[in-house]
Amino acid sequence: MNHEHVVTQRGRRSRLPITVAIHSTARGRAAGGCRIAAYPHWRDGVTDALRLSQAMSGKCAIAGLPLGGGKTVVSLPLSYDMSTTARRDLLRDIGDLIASLHGAYATGPDVGTGPDDMAVIGERTDYVFCRPESAGGSGDSSLHTATGVLAALRAVCAHRFGSDDLSARSVAVLGLGRVGAHVLRMLAGARVIAADVDPGRRDLATRYGATWVSPQDCLTADVDVLIPAALGGLLTAATVPTLRCAAIAGPANNQLDVPATAGLLHERGILWAPDIAVSAGGLIHATARELLHETPEQAAQRVAAIGATLTGLLDTAAGTGITPAAAADQLAAGRLPVS
Ligand code: PHE
Repeated sequence: MNHEHVVTQRGRRSRLPITVAIHSTARGRAAGGCRIAAYPHWRDGVTDALRLSQAMSGKCAIAGLPLGGGKTVVSLPLSYDMSTTARRDLLRDIGDLIASLHGAYATGPDVGTGPDDMAVIGERTDYVFCRPESAGGSGDSSLHTATGVLAALRAVCAHRFGSDDLSARSVAVLGLGRVGAHVLRMLAGARVIAADVDPGRRDLATRYGATWVSPQDCLTADVDVLIPAALGGLLTAATVPTLRCAAIAGPANNQLDVPATAGLLHERGILWAPDIAVSAGGLIHATARELLHETPEQAAQRVAAIGATLTGLLDTAAGTGITPAAAADQLAAGRLPVS
């Protein structure tokens, strides 16, 4: 472990295990969302927090933000049902834990949390991004994450197919949560297939003209671009040989199970856009608005710049014969600490 500080604590009210992992504060206060998800064992949530917080350090560095990497993970038992009151208790516990870190870490939304949850955490600590606008925050970040994904998709398509016109492409969206659903809506015009582990999201897919398939068929679909928008770890030594896409670019965090999988994708000629660059839109927008006090226009420009950042990474990788993942790691490493 090369993290600065990791704390796992049972919530006083909720009795649930909450982990805050601070990977690095070399560039500034650690930032990273709060994930509330089910894990086979609570230790799996700790492992996830370690990996996700490390990815946040890279994400902040590549986006050029004066922030380090951190993450909160609450490990829920499998098929755990939480009442509204229990959820409030949990969110207050999370707020107390973050407050005890005295500003070394600020949280935001992630898988399983949204702006309303940030407002409850905000009852206990000021170190929280993306409260609703009515509560003084910059609101839902998922729309801005999706806007960043679209900028990334255009950059990837320009690099791989010589045109950034998405309507000429076929794409597969894997995961229709908050971010995936926005991406799907923004892709109207392209040939889209979509999937989610929740069959209840089928209507959403068909509403936007997408063809609904199983998650397995989505992963292995014969399309120009695969867009992973669900949980991470889907690209492995077992799944890479089954892929039929030409490129991969999506907002899911930690898409590669291990770093070496980037090499397997490269060998197969599949262009992988590093997730730490593609997924940064929400973080960038919230930081621009709440920390740097920029205007909505300035924040939007920063999110749009994900396209140029990614083009730079892909050009560097192609020009020097390394993987885009290695190019991203090099760029991030060169920016630690902030100069
Ligand atoms: N979940 C966001 C991400 O993975 C984290 C985040 C968003 C943090 C917005 C702060 C503000 O990038």
